Amino acid sequence: MATEMRRTGLDVVGDMPWGTHFCLFYETTHDLLDTLASYCKAGLESREFCLWVVAPPVTREDAAAALAETVPDFDRHLADGSIEIIRAHDWYLQDGTFDLQRTIRGWHETLARASANGYAGVRVTGDTAWLEKDWTDFCEYEEALNECIANQRLTVLCTYPLAACAADEILDVVRTHQFAVAKRRGSWDVIETAGHKQAKAEIKRLNEDLAQRVILAEERANEEGERLRQAQADMAHINRVTTMGELTASLAHEIKQPIAAAVTDARTCLRWLGRDLPDLPEARDAASRIITDVTRAADIISSISVMFQKHAPQRELVDVNQLIREMVVLLRSEANRYSIAIRTRLAEGLPPALADAVQLQQVLMNLILNGIEAMKDTRAGNELTITSDAEPGHLVISVSDTGAGLLPGQTEQIFTAFVTTKDHGIGMGLPISRSIIESHGGRMWATGNADNAGRGATFRFTVPVTVAAQA
Ligand SMILES: Nc1ncnc2c1ncn2[C@@H]1O[C@H](COP(=O)(O)OP(=O)(O)O)[C@@H](O)[C@H]1O
Ligand SMILES: [Mg+2]
Repeated sequence: MATEMRRTGLDVVGDMPWGTHFCLFYETTHDLLDTLASYCKAGLESREFCLWVVAPPVTREDAAAALAETVPDFDRHLADGSIEIIRAHDWYLQDGTFDLQRTIRGWHETLARASANGYAGVRVTGDTAWLEKDWTDFCEYEEALNECIANQRLTVLCTYPLAACAADEILDVVRTHQFAVAKRRGSWDVIETAGHKQAKAEIKRLNEDLAQRVILAEERANEEGERLRQAQADMAHINRVTTMGELTASLAHEIKQPIAAAVTDARTCLRWLGRDLPDLPEARDAASRIITDVTRAADIISSISVMFQKHAPQRELVDVNQLIREMVVLLRSEANRYSIAIRTRLAEGLPPALADAVQLQQVLMNLILNGIEAMKDTRAGNELTITSDAEPGHLVISVSDTGAGLLPGQTEQIFTAFVTTKDHGIGMGLPISRSIIESHGGRMWATGNADNAGRGATFRFTVPVTVAAQA
């Protein structure tokens, strides 16, 4: 708290921390009023309670007039009690004598009252002309003040008429304040004691040191974060590879089939060509079959290569509704080919999901295409419905169709790799979609549409929303 800076209102000084105790030597009353009015103005503008203790020849009226000239809404501040102007005699010499402890108590009480009333702190200025006779008292007082305001939301500016101070008194004043400001013949001087200078240098050094440490800590945190992300990416990769490990046997089988067929077809092709009279039409047929076989193998490989890719998952804020709308535009003509209507019922004001947009698109595309494929051979009047909803912590997206439907036993089985009922299906769409959703921390499941006279199926999945978006 003590490091919080306050504006002094004095250009030559600039900002100061709470707990600052400094003094002003002035030549003319005009200079004094001018300087103190700016000092108080800065305090009022920063919601500080201001206390101006005036001593002859300056009167309360002089101070008020100077403030009225400098502070735009001075009357309001005076009326709401943000500033008080008190005579030195009334503040310091309540029973005609100066009591150090009573005076210090007075500052503390003022501070407590101001804090209770919501002020940022207290800004004081006091003139010590009243102390003419008690110089030792005064030195004691200024020293005690240093103790009392350290670490408090208090700043004190003491003012001294230069002409009335003897040389040794000036030394005492400078010694007992953190620094002194003097206005002489219209120009400013700032006099710092060696101790204060040293302390400031030390603070500056500490601040720089701190800044350096903060930078280092940030760098370290960034490196850690990077390492963590890498580890997570490696982990996800290993998980997928392990999953794939279980698939390898069936995968090898799936790919071997078309390759074996291709080899057979290539041999056949060679045989037709190796005849004394090569049978070109037969050879061409065999060569075409090779293309079909190899394309099939390539399709299988590319359909699963997504799962083998090793890259840190992209996580960005994704507007899922927007993604759904884009996908509908993309696939509408495919649906139109089979007179299938696509409807959407998207919740408004959905929080963004934290996801890889491209992967989510892939999932949506798989589900929509499966839906279309399930309906294209059934009777007319088919419909594909896509919905989105927000639930605590995640979004739920559903894709329903009115197609062939699913038997209870099928709803889990279809997520197994290479399970397909289609002539040219590969059976990798659903397992890959589920693996993508699970890598996002979501779930994917299928249900037969019992409420739809046994017709159609619904696929649902969840995607987590960001913590910030939930709040
Ligand atoms: N909407 C659906 N309605 C009925 N059956 C479906 C639907 N979606 C998928 N299936 C069944 O699940 C199987 C696997 O789907 P998928 O993994 O996408 O592979 P593919 O589409 O290549 O067959 C499909 O062959 C089909 O039998
Ligand atoms: Mg599919």
